[in-house]
Amino acid sequence: MSLNNDQNTAANHDLSSGSNPLSPAQAADLQQRAIAVAHHAYAPYSHFRVGAAVLLSDGTIVTGCNVENASYRLTVCAEQAAIASAVSLHGPQIRIRAIAVANLNDTASQPCGACRQTIHEFSTPNTIVVFPAEGGTIAQATIAALLPAAFLLTDS
Ligand code: THU
Repeated sequence: MSLNNDQNTAANHDLSSGSNPLSPAQAADLQQRAIAVAHHAYAPYSHFRVGAAVLLSDGTIVTGCNVENASYRLTVCAEQAAIASAVSLHGPQIRIRAIAVANLNDTASQPCGACRQTIHEFSTPNTIVVFPAEGGTIAQATIAALLPAAFLLTDS
């Protein structure tokens, strides 16, 4: 794992605050599962094949890939596919311990803004996001660091 580049400043800060990161072996395993499911991606338009692996608080792992559409805005991101599958399989009470995102394009890439909001919905203060960083390294950050001002709907 490496966090020593500008893109990952938030991640670096987050880990130094002692936010219960995954072990390097756990992060690598989750990342491998994300890479595996990325081979199922349907991405004929962008050719950016993405996979996500969600580690739930009970240890269960659920995966998903991006599914594009000719009407571009209907595309489903890998993280959203994985989380929708996790809720479908295990119910609305799920909590995400960690989520890894990977792509088959050898590109450093963090979850998009919409996916950050989706992850946040099922997160805890310690939910970790694992993602490919510069130079082929794997980085970690909490969802709180990646989305510090998440939208919340509260009863008035
Ligand atoms: N994509 C994801 O699956 N997750 C992200 O966090 C960012 C983008 C997908 C959507 C689209 O199919 C392709 O990557 C290019 O944007």
